[in-house]
Amino acid sequence: MRVQEQARPAPAGGPRIPVRVFSGIQPTGVVHIGNYVGAIRQWAQLQREFESYFCIVDLHAITGSYDVAEFPQRVLDAAAANVAAGIDPNQSVLFVQSHVPEHCELMWLLNVLTPVGQLERMTQYKERSRRAKTGVMAGLLNYPVLQAADVLLYKAKLVPVGEDQVQHVELMRDIAERFNKQFGETFPLPEARLTKGARIMALNDPAAKMSKSVSGSYIALVEDPESIRKKVRAAVTDPGPPKKGSKLDDASPGVANLFTLLEVFAPHRYAEFAEAYHDGAIRYSEMKQALADAIVETFAPVRDRYAQLVQRPDEIRDILAGGARRARPVAQTTMEEVRKEMGLR
Ligand code: TYM
Repeated sequence: MRVQEQARPAPAGGPRIPVRVFSGIQPTGVVHIGNYVGAIRQWAQLQREFESYFCIVDLHAITGSYDVAEFPQRVLDAAAANVAAGIDPNQSVLFVQSHVPEHCELMWLLNVLTPVGQLERMTQYKERSRRAKTGVMAGLLNYPVLQAADVLLYKAKLVPVGEDQVQHVELMRDIAERFNKQFGETFPLPEARLTKGARIMALNDPAAKMSKSVSGSYIALVEDPESIRKKVRAAVTDPGPPKKGSKLDDASPGVANLFTLLEVFAPHRYAEFAEAYHDGAIRYSEMKQALADAIVETFAPVRDRYAQLVQRPDEIRDILAGGARRARPVAQTTMEEVRKEMGLR
């Protein structure tokens, strides 16, 4: 796994270093705390140091079932959630994938460099094709090629994502390497950037990933406090405290997941509960209370900002239009170069 844990900091007061960041999120209804911990939280930090592109990937989302009439609103909701959670549209380029048609063009060109066997080995493809009720569509297989195009179009080097996307980043790296070898040095090789909490597990089933497709597994970014408390209280742990001297490394998946969340949302309470765990004296109800308080507190301002933003859909549309205007020239420059290199003049 090629993972860059820590991005290089920008020189104090100096110019931005020309490393670009790219990441994306599907507008599939709910943005949850797994998305926040694994991805958006990092994006909000990285945007201060690097030229950053954050994309609402509508073309990816339509590979799953979706409601056509509701879809435009889903896109606006996803953008609003990202802005509310800390993406600053003045600092970052926040835009919608389909507003920059070069994503599709580059995807086609990269398709000719991508072995089908490698696409068939992608874990997410295997999972999603197993669940597909009405046959497996080519869009599902080629999904990671579009993802490669997303990143390579901006020649981005850092790709802040949750763990489930690492395999896709590996693939785009392979595609970029193949392109550079065949057509000349063009793309920097992208690297996945993970943080603590790169894989937040479902609260009600810690063997599975927290996911918007499983209700009860997630806490939405804009969930009301009572519901947050209820879900945290109901999170799967162990029937009682562990034996004295137990190590957190050996904790059950549910307990480990709550400790990860505690470290992210209430780091000042972490040592105290870790010690109680080690001493065999932990009360999970108290830990859950501390965690729920911290989650409620963290997302209270996010929820307020979101509520304000969704009242002003034109403002969100303007932000996204502005993002596409900034993204497009970069995408066009890359495409001109790529077309030339591939003999498409
Ligand atoms: P998506 O929309 O499923 O998720 C958005 C981001 O949230 C992370 N994430 C999680 N992190 C920790 N714990 C979890 N339980 C959890 N669930 C989701 C994901 O890893 C992701 O970083 N294919 C991508 C979107 C995409 C993309 C890209 C990402 C399209 N093009 C280019 C990076 C670069 C996806 O479906 O993310």
